[in-house]
Amino acid sequence: MRSVISILDLSVEELDELIATANDIIADPEKYAHICQGKKLATMFFEPSTRTRLSFEAAMYELGGNVLTMADAQSSSAAKGESVADTVKTISCYADIIAMRHPKEGAPYVASLNASVPVINAGDGGHNHPTQTLADLLTIQREKGRLGELTVGFCGDLKFGRTVHSLIQALSRYQNVKFVLISPVELKLPSYVKKDIIQANRLQYVQTTDLEKVMPDLDILYMTRVQRERFFNEEDYLRLKDSYILTVDKLKNAKPDLAIMHPLPRVNEISVAVDKDPRACYFKQVLNGKYMRMALILKLLGVKP
Ligand code: CP
Repeated sequence: MRSVISILDLSVEELDELIATANDIIADPEKYAHICQGKKLATMFFEPSTRTRLSFEAAMYELGGNVLTMADAQSSSAAKGESVADTVKTISCYADIIAMRHPKEGAPYVASLNASVPVINAGDGGHNHPTQTLADLLTIQREKGRLGELTVGFCGDLKFGRTVHSLIQALSRYQNVKFVLISPVELKLPSYVKKDIIQANRLQYVQTTDLEKVMPDLDILYMTRVQRERFFNEEDYLRLKDSYILTVDKLKNAKPDLAIMHPLPRVNEISVAVDKDPRACYFKQVLNGKYMRMALILKLLGVKP
């Protein structure tokens, strides 16, 4: 029984295998349509979600399985004070696999220690979001044809942006990936990613506050939302929320094959006019997330076509 709490729980070979499975599902969905018959996925979401929860659920349905949903903490006995440990011990009696999102960093890890079925971290606070990274990796592979030899710009809230932390952890294991870290000083990448991943592995990186200056260098631009829910005071959020707004004009010096990515939801950090640009990949990421979650469910349940 195996859980996925961090993207580093999966080896590079396993990431390649998940990408290959996802591409096979895209090519031949009928082969997978009944493969999880009789299996149940429980989605336990203690924090709002559109894409992650619904794509996990769509993934299980498209594999022929069933879904038990806990869409928010208020609809469960967590609202009466039940612990994460007791909740997952209970859900392990009903489901074969659990996808869990929680506002507290480490909660899915605690869940994995107490569950008797695999637990997938569907986002824990400002920490990690490994299945968004799976969506991102498939998108990069399909758009660029490779996961190495890339200059990747991360822009916006790099401090609390869990999708950024997980994607940097993943890309750090591929050859010649250069990171360009674009953020206000207050929202710089935390040291457990910068020191423990980028510097510890002697990877190339630059830090800047100026998106337009570095735009011509980028193969990938990964925009992120400044997240109101992570701030302790509204004043700081209001001061920082519009730090970066990507417009059509700001892309004029970008590479013709730039991939513009965003985990979504967006507020205003990418102008809607950019959606028409063929380099915009964020809705492809949404769809790719479903296929990679299908591949991950199969792997953790040990189900093969
Ligand atoms: N990307 C992502 O995690 O989106 P949701 O919050 O809608 O699940």
